[in-house]
Amino acid sequence: MAIANSEDGAVEQHDDLTIRLDAGGWGWTWSADDDGRLHQVGLGPSGADAALDVDAIWYPDAHPTWGGPDPVRPPALRITHADGTTTTRLRLHGVERESGPDNDDEIVRIVTTDEVFAFRAKFCARTHRASGVLEQWIEVDHEEDGPVTLWDYDSIAPAFLIGPEARVTQFGGAGWADEWAWTTEQLTPGTKVLDSLGGVQPHLQRSPVLMIEPNGPADEASGEVIGCSILWGGNTRFAADVRPRSGEQARDLRLRVGANPLGAHYVLDPGRTFTSPVVAWTWANGRQELTDRFHAWTRARVLRDPDRTRPIVANNWESTFFDFDEQRIVGLIDRAADVGADLFLLDDGWFGTSSPRDDDDAGLGDWEPDRRKLPGGLAPLIDAAVDRGIRFGIWVEPEMVNPDSDLFREHPDWVIRDRREPREHRNQFALDPLVDEVRDFEVAVFDRVLAGASGTSYVKWDANRPVTDPGSRALRNDRQSNSWVDWVHATWEVMERVAAAHPDVELMLCASGGGRTDHGTLRWFHEFWTSDNTDPVTRVRMQWSCGHWFPASAMAAHVTAWGGRPLPFACAVALSGRFGFDLDLAALDEADTAVCSRSVAVARRTQDLVQHGRLRRLVSPVADGDRSRAALAYIDPASDRAVVFCYQIEDSAAPPPDLLIDGLDDATNYDVTITDLTTNPRPVGRLSGAELGDGALVWDLTRATTAQVIEVSAARVVHRT
Ligand code: GLA
Repeated sequence: MAIANSEDGAVEQHDDLTIRLDAGGWGWTWSADDDGRLHQVGLGPSGADAALDVDAIWYPDAHPTWGGPDPVRPPALRITHADGTTTTRLRLHGVERESGPDNDDEIVRIVTTDEVFAFRAKFCARTHRASGVLEQWIEVDHEEDGPVTLWDYDSIAPAFLIGPEARVTQFGGAGWADEWAWTTEQLTPGTKVLDSLGGVQPHLQRSPVLMIEPNGPADEASGEVIGCSILWGGNTRFAADVRPRSGEQARDLRLRVGANPLGAHYVLDPGRTFTSPVVAWTWANGRQELTDRFHAWTRARVLRDPDRTRPIVANNWESTFFDFDEQRIVGLIDRAADVGADLFLLDDGWFGTSSPRDDDDAGLGDWEPDRRKLPGGLAPLIDAAVDRGIRFGIWVEPEMVNPDSDLFREHPDWVIRDRREPREHRNQFALDPLVDEVRDFEVAVFDRVLAGASGTSYVKWDANRPVTDPGSRALRNDRQSNSWVDWVHATWEVMERVAAAHPDVELMLCASGGGRTDHGTLRWFHEFWTSDNTDPVTRVRMQWSCGHWFPASAMAAHVTAWGGRPLPFACAVALSGRFGFDLDLAALDEADTAVCSRSVAVARRTQDLVQHGRLRRLVSPVADGDRSRAALAYIDPASDRAVVFCYQIEDSAAPPPDLLIDGLDDATNYDVTITDLTTNPRPVGRLSGAELGDGALVWDLTRATTAQVIEVSAARVVHRT
């Protein structure tokens, strides 16, 4: 398709000026006006069938540009053209449709070109109708006389009519150890910007997901809910621009979503293509549907090996930090095997030769075992694990370097920096993935570590600092601001190469906790470390928020001593995620060891449900709930089995909530057992699905930091052991 408009400026190469997109249960319609400018004619549950009641020109812009028809509202695409012109006016040029990767799916590219410049923007969409999650992004290229600069490059910019009670929910707290904090507030006139910075671990500040209730409060079962996720391992931005409508209660909302362009204007040379992050979004009826859709789509399009049940991991970080030797680790491996874990994960501190990693101020970059701590290297540890019938995993932070390391002494020019002296953060620098040798080095870290640790089948990939001195020697002086976008693609290239080279190795994604928890980066991983904050009281709420978007198979949850909570409660909280331990198992007394073993037994019976079943939220510990209690269930697709987790988080004077375990088969009888993990599960009888859905089980917790795990199986189903 030619990039220029036809000579007389008329729109060409499209048969129909109306473009419809069926996203699976919802969709949108765009239509071009007589000048070829695109307008959003429909959006929402029947958005793909919208009829034009009036001429297209009366509908909102489909994707506003700076200099477009509306001079008083912010643009989603803002560019300085090669000759200095700051306005962009796009016309429909054509529509490309091709079959998508799955049956019934399609990829649509709506091609537009500027009225005057040889500049092209494609509005792209890929459906996943089986789930109802739609992926959208933009692609920009040009053949102008010199580079153009992209100042704003949002991936989507839908327009909504919202009610006066419309609300937005964001997920972000104070930063490290405070991920996934839930905040719901009303959408009032003005522009609300919800963004993140820092480049490497921006999601520590704010998870790149957002929920909007355009007509006011929704609940699990009903009410419109729009959910968006930005697939971007870099800085992100949601901007909600709300305008009153004269004399009406309804308001206009323009939601712009994409990479955060702050400090990141992109200088694009002729002939090159700029591709924005994918934004995945849906328009659901109730929060349950939003979660069903995101879980189905995450399993289908994001997670590696989605059907593989994740191992029960025992990690040593919280029990040893950097202070261990071979004997200590072998002891922990033994104890991990004793309680029934599947895999031992050796965390930070095992490497560094001339600059041993005894603390976080040395050794990063030198990926050879520290022979003072581990005289025989990693092999004796792996042998110990194999002897005890469990797997071995290891921690690396391949993108980072301590100044006190051989790597830095050899390659001081490999770090991310501008002309100033770079600043240390956690005593380390980030390596610059735009330097070719750096990417090769990072890939080779895995080859080397895994070759030296034969039998290792799991790696935790960490990244523990943000970018503070943005710049790259791989970019020209006038392209430095491109680094924020280019780094993400370069890092993803490394991840892709590693995943391809080691297809059998399970990868955990970590960045000081949940600093990289986005659906884009997760494509090369099996799971993520949800947060360094493992206080189970906080974790109930974090996992509640995170579980709206990600299935529990991806959400690592380890039992630790954080917060000094009762061990049975900590175990019960971790059991509703991808279960594991980060405890000094060797120091536990008999009673606590029994709690751990009992919890492993519960995990063995329930982890397929937790990881692959349907999540149902029963009692909310956030926002609309009374915050003192939580309950959630996972139900298998055939409704034969379920596991319910009840948490009394705090003391509460509020009356106990109803425990309505719906989603089971009304006519089926289920055997029910209950445990608080201090004793083995005790049978409480046989109840029908209808009875369970009608509150036959009552809330039975009163004391703070106590929990119950309720297992439900259809009378004919035999428990797995
Ligand atoms: C980060 C991770 C922790 C641990 C430490 C090791 O903080 O989130 O789980 O691995 O690094 O330094």
